[in-house]
Amino acid sequence: MRNLINTVAASAMLLGVASAAHAAENVEVLHWWTSGGEATALEVLKKDLESKGISWSDMPVSGGGGTEAMTVLRARVTGGNAPTAVQMLGFDIFDWAKQGSLGNLDEVAAKEKWDDVIPTALQQFSKYDGHWIAAPVNVHSTNWIWINKAALDKAGGKEPQNWDELIALLDKFKEQGITPVAHGGQPWQDATIFDAVVLSLGNDFYKSAFIDLDPATLGGEKMKEAFDRMTKLRTYVDDNFSGRDWNLASAMVIENKAGLQFMGDWAKGEFVKAKKEPGKDFVCMRFPGTQGSVTFNSDQFAMFKVSDDKTKAQLVMASAIENPEFQSAFNVVKGSAPARTDVPDTAFDACGKKAIKDLAEANKAGTLYGSMAHGHANPAAVKNAIYDVVTRQFNGELSSEDAVKELVAAVDAAK
Ligand code: BGC
Repeated sequence: MRNLINTVAASAMLLGVASAAHAAENVEVLHWWTSGGEATALEVLKKDLESKGISWSDMPVSGGGGTEAMTVLRARVTGGNAPTAVQMLGFDIFDWAKQGSLGNLDEVAAKEKWDDVIPTALQQFSKYDGHWIAAPVNVHSTNWIWINKAALDKAGGKEPQNWDELIALLDKFKEQGITPVAHGGQPWQDATIFDAVVLSLGNDFYKSAFIDLDPATLGGEKMKEAFDRMTKLRTYVDDNFSGRDWNLASAMVIENKAGLQFMGDWAKGEFVKAKKEPGKDFVCMRFPGTQGSVTFNSDQFAMFKVSDDKTKAQLVMASAIENPEFQSAFNVVKGSAPARTDVPDTAFDACGKKAIKDLAEANKAGTLYGSMAHGHANPAAVKNAIYDVVTRQFNGELSSEDAVKELVAAVDAAK
C-alpha cells in the first residue's frame, strides 16, 4: 500500500514537473489564417511544434490580408500583453521593430545559416538594423488568376495572354451564364486586383507608382488607364460581391459558379482542400501581361519581446519554421513557395512548381516587386491610403480622372 502511495505521489510529482515544463514552452500565435486551406496549413505548423514539445495557444483574427489582425495586435501590445509570435507582412514588421517591440533571432539564424538560404528579398523584411527579428514562412504572390477548367474549355480552351484576350474570355463566361469574375468587395481584395492591373501596364510603371511613389506616375495617364481597367472588371462581378470573403469567391470557381478569380496563390490552398487538381479542374496562370514578373508577399512570424521563460519556445518555433522539410510540407498545402532557396519542388503540384520557378526567374531578371496590396511596397499608412482610393473608384464613387488626383493627394498626405 505504502509503495503504491509512493508510486502515485512520485508519478504525480513527475507529471507536475512535466506539465510545468510543458506549460512553460508554449506559444501564443496571432494570425489570420482562418479559411479552410489556411487552417489546414496552420495545422501542419501546430503539429510540428507539438512534436517538439511546444504547445499552441491559438489567436485567430479573421480578415484576409491581415488588416483586422493588425488592429487586434495593436490593442494587445498597448495593453502590455503581446502575443509570443505574430503573422506579419513586410513593412508592418519594420514598424514594430522600430518601436523596439520585437525580440532577436540572431542565435538560431546564425546557427542554421539563414543568411545563405533565405532570399535577400525576404531578408529585407526579416532583419532590422542587421538583426534577425522575424522568421519567413513562405513566399506568396498576387499576380495570379485561377480559372475554372471546364468553363475555359467551353470558351475554347485558350489561356488569355493579354488584356483584350482576358476581356474576350470574360465575355464568353458571361454567355455561359456563369459569373465571369468571382470577387469579394473588400478593400484588400480590390487592391489585390489593382496590384496585377498596374503590373500589367508595365514593370517600370508598377515600380515607379508603388515602390517609388512617384507623383507624376500616380497621377498620370497610365494610372487613369489602370483605373479604367478596374471599371471594366467591375462589370463582370455578380450583384452580391460586396463584402464577400475571398475564400467564398474561390468556392464560386471551385463549384463551377464562376469563371475565374484574380487572387494571390493562397487561393490554391482552397482548391487543394476541395481536392481539385491543377490542369484538370482548374488552371493557374499569371495575370495576362504580367508573365515574367512577380509581385510578392511573404508571411513571416515576428517574435515579440516576452519574458525570459518564453523565449526558448520562440527560438524553437523559428527554427521549426525554417526547417526545409517543414517548408515543403507547409507550402504544398498553403499554395505558396518556400521561403528558402534550397527546398526541392518535388512535392509541389504544377502551380507550386510554377510559383517556385517564376520567383527564381523574376529574382534573377530584376522583375520581382513587393506587393502593394500585401504590405511589401509601403508602410501601412500609405497602403491604406491607396486602398481607400482604389475601393472608392472600384465602387463607382470616383471617376478614373478623380481617382488619380485623389491618389496623388492621399499618398502625399500618408507619406
Ligand atoms: C497572406 C496569406 C493569406 C491571405 C488571405 C495574405 O496577406 O499573406 O497568407 O492567406 O492574406 O488571408
